[in-house]
Amino acid sequence: MNITKQIIYDITIVGAGIVGSAVARNLLKRNPQLKLLIVDRENEIAKHQSSHNSGVIHRGIYYQPGSKRAKLCVKGSMDMYHYCQENGVYFEKCGKLITAVNRNELDQLEKLYQRGLANGVNDIELVDRDRLLSIEPSIVGGIKAIFSPNTGIVDFKQVTQSLVNDSVKMGAEVKLNFDATNFNYNSRDKILEVRCKETNESIHTKYMITCAGIYSDRVANASFGEKEPSVVPFRGSFLKFKPQYSHLIKGNVYPVPNANFPFLGVHFTKKTNGDIWIGPNAVLAFDRKGYKYSDVNLQDTKELLTNKGLRSLATRHWKYGMDQLMSDIFPSHYIKFLKPFIPDITTDMLEYGGSGVRAQAISQDGHLIEDFIYDTPLDKPIIHVRNCPSPAATSSLAIADEIVDMAYSHFNFH
Ligand SMILES: Cc1cc2nc3c(=O)[nH]c(=O)nc-3n(C[C@H](O)[C@H](O)[C@H](O)COP(=O)(O)OP(=O)(O)OC[C@H]3O[C@@H](n4cnc5c(N)ncnc54)[C@H](O)[C@@H]3O)c2cc1C
Ligand SMILES: *[C@@H]1O[C@H](CO)[C@@H](O)[C@H](O)[C@H]1NC(C)=O
Ligand SMILES: *[C@@H]1O[C@H](CO)[C@@H](O)[C@H](O)[C@H]1NC(C)=O
Ligand SMILES: *[C@@H]1O[C@H](CO)[C@@H](O)[C@H](O)[C@H]1NC(C)=O
Repeated sequence: MNITKQIIYDITIVGAGIVGSAVARNLLKRNPQLKLLIVDRENEIAKHQSSHNSGVIHRGIYYQPGSKRAKLCVKGSMDMYHYCQENGVYFEKCGKLITAVNRNELDQLEKLYQRGLANGVNDIELVDRDRLLSIEPSIVGGIKAIFSPNTGIVDFKQVTQSLVNDSVKMGAEVKLNFDATNFNYNSRDKILEVRCKETNESIHTKYMITCAGIYSDRVANASFGEKEPSVVPFRGSFLKFKPQYSHLIKGNVYPVPNANFPFLGVHFTKKTNGDIWIGPNAVLAFDRKGYKYSDVNLQDTKELLTNKGLRSLATRHWKYGMDQLMSDIFPSHYIKFLKPFIPDITTDMLEYGGSGVRAQAISQDGHLIEDFIYDTPLDKPIIHVRNCPSPAATSSLAIADEIVDMAYSHFNFH
């Protein structure tokens, strides 16, 4: 490769979702001298998960104590509020109820409450039915709940835009429509060449951090990392209340989650524009950009059908999968997740909301990997961010701090 004519970046971030953008911004905050490049394969930033999510700033109640997800959600939520406050990004601390609707869920609710406390979420309370109804009068099916007053909402796409703006102000360059597909390392000069196959454009960089969301396994595999764990796309579709019913929900109402799955269950969520979204379900998507159930990509499907881990998961949980799939196709089926909360709800009150595709890493023995994963291929100036499922948007600034620390210990920054 001819590296004399071209700019050599100190560091290149692959993926301008909220994680890559937070990493870029925190790197430059630490050292504004870095010559930093952000690339994304799409024609705008935050086109995938970071703009297709519930928009909830989680507090860190659900996650295994001691895990990265628990620590970085508790810290990240505070960082996120602080960041939005400082930078004029609109948010609301509208609160949240995790609501039991039958007696069988009470044990699990109590465990969840203890878990929240163990994670350092000290502002939560267990509330009885009267209190629950004073907070959310329409949730007449609720019998007891965890109330989290400092759970909030924000538009994470706007946060991502703001983070990219910060980086650009500190001198970063952004290159869109650049699908990083080929990677060559010149070990003599210690320069990495990153090429976009489609345009045959290439850039040169000393260090690279990949934050490629749904493609993180492919990007890692193509750039000196392991293929595993692989990523499985799970679509989540939302309904929303027709505007005349939006007043029925004041903040966030979540179910007691199914302990077998890392997803939080279908919930009611206020959006920053006042709409109330209901969702998301969790359906295997046969396309990594499959926002509709009819989207099928042959390559993605072939990978799914030959994924051993996924086969094992599907065999164990086919009933859950069918239920979720039915809800994706038939709103009348979706309603059955909602009636326990609002018995009078009908499909006439609802319209289609939108959907998102979760990038979820799966182990070869068929377990959905819950925690965030970042690793470094041996002897290469690269960090791969491999699994950043929910609540990674909430946690993005705290994740970025960890990755920046990792960069400082792994890379030879002076
Ligand atoms: C339905 C749904 C609801 C959710 N709800 C919440 C919530 O309420 N709260 C919360 O905290 N989290 C939530 N999440 C999770 C959250 O959205 C994600 O954890 C977060 O957005 C992950 O950000 P990311 O930057 O890793 O991924 P992404 O936003 O997907 O960004 C990855 C980027 O990499 C780019 N890219 C990929 N491959 C390449 C390549 N080869 N070259 C160049 N660019 C590439 C992509 O174009 C993309 O822009 C939800 C997710 C979904 C799907
Ligand atoms: C980011 O910068 C662009 C261009 O300067 C501006 O239009 C936009 O409002 C900014 N967005 C945020 C969220 O700061
Ligand atoms: C791509 O660009 C490189 C130089 O950067 C050149 O050597 C190569 O021939 C080009 N390939 C194609 C297919 O144009
Ligand atoms: C992994 O990378 C190798 C070579 O770099 C390539 O041949 C293979 O097709 C890739 N596998 C996947 C699943 O992307």
